[in-house]
Amino acid sequence: MAERRVYRATTTAPVNIAVVKYWGKRDPKLNLPTNSSLSVTLSQADLRTLTTASCSASYPAEEGDSLVLNGEPSDVSGARTQACFRELRARRAALEAADPSLPKLSTMPLRLVSENNFPTAAGLASSAAGFAALVRAIADLYELPASPSELSLIARQGSGSACRSLFGGYVAWRMGEAADGSDSTAEQVADASHWPDMRALILVVSAAKKGVSSTSGMQQTVATSGLFRERIARVVPQNMAAMEKAIRERDFASFAEVTMRDSNSFHATCADTYPPIFYMNDVSRAAIRAVEQINAAAGRTVAAYTFDAGPNAVIYYLEKDTEAVVGTLYHVLGGDISGWKDAVVKGLKPSLSLDEG
Ligand code: DP6
Repeated sequence: MAERRVYRATTTAPVNIAVVKYWGKRDPKLNLPTNSSLSVTLSQADLRTLTTASCSASYPAEEGDSLVLNGEPSDVSGARTQACFRELRARRAALEAADPSLPKLSTMPLRLVSENNFPTAAGLASSAAGFAALVRAIADLYELPASPSELSLIARQGSGSACRSLFGGYVAWRMGEAADGSDSTAEQVADASHWPDMRALILVVSAAKKGVSSTSGMQQTVATSGLFRERIARVVPQNMAAMEKAIRERDFASFAEVTMRDSNSFHATCADTYPPIFYMNDVSRAAIRAVEQINAAAGRTVAAYTFDAGPNAVIYYLEKDTEAVVGTLYHVLGGDISGWKDAVVKGLKPSLSLDEG
């Protein structure tokens, strides 16, 4: 009877949006970055991946491990998914070796079922929530005593930005120095409750799959952009320090300036890549102008834009400025931009932690 049993665990992981961007790998195999990065984890109720991991000796061995993503079978043979499975199985196998009474879950085929409640691969950090949820679900299934920091080290090997989705609030991914990546992990800089009035709004300019994936885009940038070398040597270290200070002091004007400058710097290195990579489109640029108008009209900085590897804008603002920011965005974009009719606005709060309800 026991061998028919299906073991199961379900978890959710939230999306995070970087305000100092990760762009560049110094070791593509271990997914080690060329620079540290910092993000805000968004409320998982709004944007999250829900993943169930199960295993059973009754699952046919010849079918192997499997993943169903948004109802479609998805390939798990990729090196990054395999690296996550291998790391998690090794940790489970160590527990089983230490305690022979434990069921041998590490030897059973894994089945994963995952659902995003937002567009996949549209520059909405779907791989971040996806790998964070995958790693967390399997770790729960295997009852691993792993800390979020240790899980972040595993999730990083699935997708770099995923390591930051293991924490809530304001999260830094320290690039580390070790060749084996053992010190390239994420850590919380501040809990969401430290700055609870922070809000993020996403302008879904396009839900289409992005043209150049982050992985190949950043490889091309590392190989060809001179501006990129300046970014990792000088710009990012400065932005990391200024961003951590701004968060510590809840200084929105500084938070916003660093966020916008870092997004501009990242997209400038994309334009400096040869051949150039363009993630933003006309609607994205109109959103930048709209934010500038909003800030000029307010006479202070009330909104900050940032763009990942896609055209969608994420706009950070404080709760008290909702009317000035959201109202004006509707007005400006709604009046002038034809593409705006497809855009979606979502107001989001930073999430507290992975376990938040
Ligand atoms: C622009 O984490 O998707 O969103 O490690 O190759 O999977 P891989 O890349 P990924 O890159 C994210 C890039 C970014 C910036 C960021 O999230 O820091």
